[in-house]
Amino acid sequence: MPFVNVYANATRADSYATLEFANTYHLAFRDLPDIFRTHVKGTTALDFGCGTGRSTRFLRGLGFDAIGVDISEEMIARARELDPSGDYRLIPGDDMTALPRAGFDLIQSAFTFDNIPGMETKLRLFRDLRALLKPGGIFVNLVSAPEIYWNEWSSFSTKDFPENRDARPGDPVKIVTTDFEDRSPAIDILCPHESYKEIYAQANLEITEIRKPLATGDEPYKWVSETSIAPWVIYTLRGSR
Ligand SMILES: C[S@@+](CC[C@H](N)C(=O)[O-])C[C@H]1O[C@@H](n2cnc3c(N)ncnc32)[C@H](O)[C@@H]1O
Repeated sequence: MPFVNVYANATRADSYATLEFANTYHLAFRDLPDIFRTHVKGTTALDFGCGTGRSTRFLRGLGFDAIGVDISEEMIARARELDPSGDYRLIPGDDMTALPRAGFDLIQSAFTFDNIPGMETKLRLFRDLRALLKPGGIFVNLVSAPEIYWNEWSSFSTKDFPENRDARPGDPVKIVTTDFEDRSPAIDILCPHESYKEIYAQANLEITEIRKPLATGDEPYKWVSETSIAPWVIYTLRGSR
């Protein structure tokens, strides 16, 4: 069966538009300002897979001049409604030719690669995105850790999908977001560290830092697994030649 982007859907876009930075998502965004301060020189940014614009607005809030791009018309429409002054662009077929080559100090991708099937497609996208980085530019790829798919979380449930545990790299895995009412599962693609490492090497991207954010227990959220298992992996990458 062909893979369907669950985000190319108006109901999902409406639900997604309500998400901010609470619960498990807090840990995804918590360390980004420090990562940007440490590694990024300059303020031009591209948010690849911007969805309804949450991650793009996050960049703008930190002072970046950010463009959000997404393959889903529904998500881009909600992003524009929520933030009429923002720059949100639809990129059908991931055509990035309208974006400036070597134009960005930072490319951020928040959860986007969780939804992209196929090593070849991922590799093509990383290569195309790398070409958009300025010399010395940084690519921050925030993805789900494999463990997210077989544990329970403040923002997610996977208990109805025990088959996730048997998934191999490249297989679909299901996860329900409990932060909004739509309980239809998102279908992601399992991509463990070894697979990302291989893709980065082939795309001439070098890993400069890897963070696996854990909760301290002092946050104002009802944690489930977050103090002992990291739900996310944040890769900081730069062009290796
Ligand atoms: C889980 S959402 C994350 C949205 C946003 N980054 C955030 O943090 O709120 C993933 C987004 O990636 C987009 N996406 C999936 N495949 C894509 C592709 N090949 N090119 C661009 N965007 C894609 C989806 O349409 C969806 O909006």
